Amino acid sequence: MNEDLQQRIAEALRNPQNMGEMPDADAVGTVGDSECGEMLRMWVKFKEQAGKKVIDRATFQSFGCETAIAVASLATEMVRGKTSEEALALKTEELAGELGPLPPMKIHCAQLVEGALRSALESPDKQPPAAILDEAKGDSAPSLFDQFSKPKSGKAHIRFLD
Ligand code: FES
Repeated sequence: MNEDLQQRIAEALRNPQNMGEMPDADAVGTVGDSECGEMLRMWVKFKEQAGKKVIDRATFQSFGCETAIAVASLATEMVRGKTSEEALALKTEELAGELGPLPPMKIHCAQLVEGALRSALESPDKQPPAAILDEAKGDSAPSLFDQFSKPKSGKAHIRFLD
């Protein structure tokens, strides 16, 4: 990763925007897998503006790398005031905003953000807030942290290191 990009990521991480769960969200989307360790959840709240339903706020929690957190911070700012259709039309590179083009090995970090946003926006009317959604899946973890800390019954993975 070049130094310029590292600096821009560090800059975004100095004051990350919109981190945390949103209890009164209208939609929630989660991508990734707590078992492999990369996961991002996004909450979205809508409002009416000039007769259109637009994104009022979006927040996130992430168990991804610094790039994923930086992109999520920028993307949650970028989607404010956009309709779902406008936000869904944003490409992965656009979500990375002022970070600029990401190297190939970091594109999946932005795709994690894009995936969570898509998951939240593609069927917002059918998506209850996170706690309800998780409960419906038999997992009452309201936040990603809870999901990681909660032991899963009947499942144990033992990995031996070389
Ligand atoms: Fe996997 Fe960034 S989220 S390296």
